[in-house]
Amino acid sequence: MNVATSIGKVDYDGLIPNNVGLGEDVRVKRALEKWHPGYIDWWKDMGPEGFQESLVYLRTAVSVDPKGWAKFDYVKMPDYKWGILLAPQAEGRTIPFGAHAGEPAWQEVPGEYRAMLRRLIVIQGDTEPASVEQQRHLGKTAPSLYDLRNLFQVNVEEGRHLWAMVYLLQKYFGTDGREEAEALLQRRSGDADSPRMLGAFNEKTPDWLSFFMFTYFTDRDGKMQLEALAQSGFDPLSRTCRFMLTEEAHHMFVGETGVTRVIQRTCEAMKEAGITDPFDIARVRKLGVIDLPTIQKKANLHFSLTLDLFGNEISTNAANAFHAGLKGRYRENRLTDDHKLESSTYPVLRLIDGKIQNEDAPALSALNMRLRDDYVNDANVGVGRWNKVIESFGIPFQIKLPHVAFNRNIGEFSKVKADVDGKQMSEAEWQSHRSDFLPNDADKVFIESLMQPQYETGKFASWIAPPKVGIDNKPGEFEYVKIA
Ligand SMILES: [Fe+2]
Ligand SMILES: [Fe+2]
Repeated sequence: MNVATSIGKVDYDGLIPNNVGLGEDVRVKRALEKWHPGYIDWWKDMGPEGFQESLVYLRTAVSVDPKGWAKFDYVKMPDYKWGILLAPQAEGRTIPFGAHAGEPAWQEVPGEYRAMLRRLIVIQGDTEPASVEQQRHLGKTAPSLYDLRNLFQVNVEEGRHLWAMVYLLQKYFGTDGREEAEALLQRRSGDADSPRMLGAFNEKTPDWLSFFMFTYFTDRDGKMQLEALAQSGFDPLSRTCRFMLTEEAHHMFVGETGVTRVIQRTCEAMKEAGITDPFDIARVRKLGVIDLPTIQKKANLHFSLTLDLFGNEISTNAANAFHAGLKGRYRENRLTDDHKLESSTYPVLRLIDGKIQNEDAPALSALNMRLRDDYVNDANVGVGRWNKVIESFGIPFQIKLPHVAFNRNIGEFSKVKADVDGKQMSEAEWQSHRSDFLPNDADKVFIESLMQPQYETGKFASWIAPPKVGIDNKPGEFEYVKIA
């Protein structure tokens, strides 16, 4: 094999599949082999509940070539090949932005930014096992084997993303990197004493509609963060994130098509029953499907929780990370400004004299706001596709993303209460209308009543339509999980 074809190849010989030459890097190899048993323990404790002996039709990365990087086969989850995969190094790559723009990209950690870089990696790393923990009970109520397989695919890949960040910590950060890698296995989503680092990753994912909303909205925050880190002047981080993004795309696919199929099934059932009013909730629910207003409430919840992940609109940390060349903007390489932002401004939605209005802020300080704006635009695309489905049935209803001031706990709007249109409300008004906007107890009880497992090959629960095509072009009758 010549060098050119071996670059993307993954070495599967050792315990840890990789394309980073781990075989020759004895120190890091040993460190990761020491970390491995703790990871497997974590997976068994906090990974999917049950199904660990089941054969799951999973894809495993076998190269980092965008074409044909994955291979599908039946695997028991604990035997999944969690590998360390970096996108190929781009020859002559330079730092794309910030104070060092144009200098050669760093192959080693720049000493002056060490702490900042470590923090960025740890925060990203912490979200990966967190979502596995949040989703661990869902297998028990899967609406089909197809969905069960998709859940587990997302889970093993989030596990691999944890490996990706742990590799960077072990390879580039010495003793404190090793301590951080350990701590990533110690924190637990929702734990009172030792929670995960970010709020949305300590919330529950109690049912499958939440799972689809989470993979649509919250994994999309993951995409935005990875896009920003893929621009990093620290080349190993950039290369890691570039490959992670290819996996992340599947997670959002699961979310978008999952919600589409729920909507589709609801609309079909309404049509069959001759129901034209989407707010005739009691009758719609009798059909064993989820009414559209409740789907909207779930979207309101997951969208607003996810917005908090972007942090404060005005942020010195974000400014510093950009200035240092560590974390860029969404698709920085396609932007045509000076990539330094020292004298430009950006409009930030703020609370000024009690009113929600735009105010120009220094662009460097407004990077969280900018990334959030890019996120909202990106999130709206799939919402448009959901609405096309509803429209095709002639049902007068549209899913709408709530205003960014709605239900916020971080940033400008955490100080106020606002409805889904951004109209401010008193605390008392909020309390009396809260359940119009967010799932209330009755909604939760209803959704829970639908969450009955459907493990028969080719069958789907009452509340969700089958997918248009199977995974790996498999037919509808394919046994995606052989339950043991
Ligand atoms: Fe991830
Ligand atoms: Fe993800």
